[in-house]
Amino acid sequence: MDQYVIKGGNPLVGEVEIGGAKNAALAILAAAIMTNETVVVENLPDVRDINVLLEAMEKIGAKIERLDSHSVKINSSQIGNFSVDYEYIKRIRASYYLLGALLGKYKRAAVPLPGGCNIGSRPIDQHLKGFKALGADVKIEYGFIVTEAEQLRGSHIYLDVVSVGATINIMMAAAMAEGSTVLENAAKEPHVVDVANFLNSMGANIKGAGTDVIRIKGVERLHSTEYSIIPDQIEAGTFMFAAAATMGDVTVKNVIPKHLEATTSKLLEIGCEIEELDDAVRVVSSKRLKSTNVKTLPYPGFPTDMQPQITVALALAKGTSIVTESIFDNRFKYVDELARMGANIKVEGNTAIIDGTLQYTGARISSPDLRAGAALVIAGLAADGYTVIDDVHFIERGYERFDEKLRSLGAIIEKVEDERDIQKFRLKVG
Ligand code: UD1
Repeated sequence: MDQYVIKGGNPLVGEVEIGGAKNAALAILAAAIMTNETVVVENLPDVRDINVLLEAMEKIGAKIERLDSHSVKINSSQIGNFSVDYEYIKRIRASYYLLGALLGKYKRAAVPLPGGCNIGSRPIDQHLKGFKALGADVKIEYGFIVTEAEQLRGSHIYLDVVSVGATINIMMAAAMAEGSTVLENAAKEPHVVDVANFLNSMGANIKGAGTDVIRIKGVERLHSTEYSIIPDQIEAGTFMFAAAATMGDVTVKNVIPKHLEATTSKLLEIGCEIEELDDAVRVVSSKRLKSTNVKTLPYPGFPTDMQPQITVALALAKGTSIVTESIFDNRFKYVDELARMGANIKVEGNTAIIDGTLQYTGARISSPDLRAGAALVIAGLAADGYTVIDDVHFIERGYERFDEKLRSLGAIIEKVEDERDIQKFRLKVG
């Protein structure tokens, strides 16, 4: 099993190029099967989740041609199977986007019901409520969600909770329904807008994405397109907090600064300097961080996917900070690992009370999930001494060449396979 070994203590300094948004890409790739014509998707991140979804799409009959590591050509005219294997949903929950895409185009789909995951229980009742409102029959059978409709009909749908996944899944199904759909209390995340733009570039008629109310006029068919995915705000934010925690000076390039506002405003609050350019943001951290409070919220609030990264920075700040997780019910699992590095954090329900420490010390720790794993790497980079992080396969789900990008900023980090590699690393870096 791959591990990262880190010698901490170096401030990160330099520029780093941010890739395409994983969460936008997952939905856009699924939506690409909604036309018989060829679709080209560019600026894909080369990460495990994307590659697994492409495999799942191939398995149901889509023809996938890799143009290079960041672009793909998809032709779905030969799809003959509307049922997705459990193997894929087990590896990436987001393969449930094939539900909305298949239902929209072929009026039927069967996708295994995703279970809970490392960050808490993850119901999908709002997705199913939306499909039903569009006139689909939805059943749970033998572990699968089986849905079909003679004809989907536009409807007025109010989401009980703001859900990115439900908003996107319903938008895809409604794009090819008969008549108009109004989706209220929709999620406003940048990737919701990106998926709507992608569908519109294929001939869909979707208005209002990025606001609470999305209006979709169904069309009979969608056509070919070439589309480039937006930059990944979470990858960018992760490097920004890495700069903050290591007292560094990092410019994240190829970003949309507007998408990073919740992150930049917290970085300013904790004492970093921020310079915003057209498509880059520079973070300079030159003195001990200050404490603050933060609550995760749907966009444009502070993203839950950045919660572990800000917590790692705040655990080094002067004073007491409070982090409230309001999206997922079990997203503080990594705190026990951080405590092994010297953090003082008390978790009560969905709140973490953090009493800042002066410095982390390196330890052997384990990555519990994707974002927490990345956050623990930040802790390792800021720590005195060596840190070994197990289970880096979680991190590789969503970060492309994470260790390589960090090394380009001066981090001393390597991916290793076993104890011998760790010893070699220690001998090499001294
Ligand atoms: C997406 C992101 C994930 C991010 C999350 C919140 C992808 C692939 N994943 O996940 O990285 O952390 O948004 O920004 O894009 N809920 C329900 N019923 C539903 C659906 C959701 O109760 O039918 C609840 C969830 O349990 C959660 C909240 O709504 O408490 C938000 O979840 P949602 O926005 O749907 O997250 P995902 O789309 O799964």
